Amino acid sequence: MKRLHLYLIPAILVAGIFTVAQAGGDDSTLAHAAGGTSFNTFYAPSYQIPDAQGMSASAARGKDLVHATYGSLGAGSAVRASNGLPYVGNKLSCTNCHMGDGTQPNASPLIVVAQKYAAPGLFNSRSNSLLDVAGRVNGCFERSLVGQPLPVDSQWMKDIVAYLDFLGAGVQPGYTFTQVPGQGFPSVDLLTRAADPVRGKQIFTGSCASCHRADGNGSSNTPPVWGTNSFGLMSGMGRLATATTLVYGAMPRNRVDPTDPSTRLSQADAWDVSAYLLSNSRPFDARFVADWTGTGPDGMPNWLRKPASASYDFTMPRSNAGVATDDPSMPAMFPSEQHIFGPFQPIEDALKAARNERGFP
Ligand code: HEC
Ligand code: HEC
Repeated sequence: MKRLHLYLIPAILVAGIFTVAQAGGDDSTLAHAAGGTSFNTFYAPSYQIPDAQGMSASAARGKDLVHATYGSLGAGSAVRASNGLPYVGNKLSCTNCHMGDGTQPNASPLIVVAQKYAAPGLFNSRSNSLLDVAGRVNGCFERSLVGQPLPVDSQWMKDIVAYLDFLGAGVQPGYTFTQVPGQGFPSVDLLTRAADPVRGKQIFTGSCASCHRADGNGSSNTPPVWGTNSFGLMSGMGRLATATTLVYGAMPRNRVDPTDPSTRLSQADAWDVSAYLLSNSRPFDARFVADWTGTGPDGMPNWLRKPASASYDFTMPRSNAGVATDDPSMPAMFPSEQHIFGPFQPIEDALKAARNERGFP
């Protein structure tokens, strides 16, 4: 294991202080990813992770919060929100999903968030609100971390925003943030069948349980993937389509080189194993039952934008003789199982037809 660490040193220097695997995993992960393309090589020429020497004290604290969110602001810390609850309600940290402290390509990196959510912010149909950087970060505090929003004027939020500003400074002259590759998670084709949690359990046992444990609780250096300490049903990861893309882009942690698609699971395996994760229990949060209500700035009702695998309201869309509607007197259009496991194409098609019918593209 010592050898692997030595081997890594040049890669760490190239990438500033950013290492590839931040929250444990096993050391072969480090060697594997670093032995391939470095993140900066992957992002070039549009983006380069800024030199850590230039990080302000505030940004450095923000990086620590992104790395150890649970440790700093979770139940085990002394910190509580004004309602007495911890800011982190489960046992996750930002870097568990935004890997490499938000620098890993294809794992929803946080490198251009400062630009993407710059004033006046970005409209979010789920919460029916305009989100700036702090607002979007709080979306993950409340949903991914099943916690409480940080006061926007708190030092913690200022530090996280300072770190995101620091990362945002890496967009190279002559490029816009939209040109930076590897953002979000890699896209995955919809299955024509329902995802299969039974087949998924076999994949989990063979490829995931060594780290995440058969009971899904993880261990001291591997995060939980279901149960009360996992992400909430009302988070992005609570939707099968999103969970599948994270797993496809980055798991198993010790096998996937985030810059080399040939090392990924097959898409069908990613769907089925993610279906198994979501077939187990996880936090349900009554604060968010009104998601995708209201009307967006373009005049389109938000329910028409609801992702097909957002599975906590089985009653939407409803069906008026085969046309999607939000009329509460009509029956649900799809069975609840289909909202969880798919197939999702028919749901998307129905929403698209209803959008077109109302004159929205
Ligand atoms: C359980 C996984 C998970 C955790 C933990 C998590 N997030 Fe997220 N986050 C997501 C997902 C999924 C998205 C949506 C990504 C997408 O659409 O590509 C997201 C989106 C974001 C975005 C918007 C990114 C963009 O490009 O639009 C920001 C900013 C963000 N998260 C910050 C944070 C911060 C800061 C933390 C820790 C306080 C955190 N997240 C914790 C899963 C997570
Ligand atoms: C070698 C250990 C290892 C293996 C094997 C592994 N993971 Fe992970 N997984 C991790 C670590 C470590 C993280 C957190 C990433 C980080 O902090 O850099 C993670 C993060 C995750 C996350 C997002 C965070 C969370 O807890 O929800 C999901 C989902 C996930 N893994 C699913 C899987 C699936 C599905 C498989 C099998 C196909 C798998 N993992 C295999 C170590 C592993």
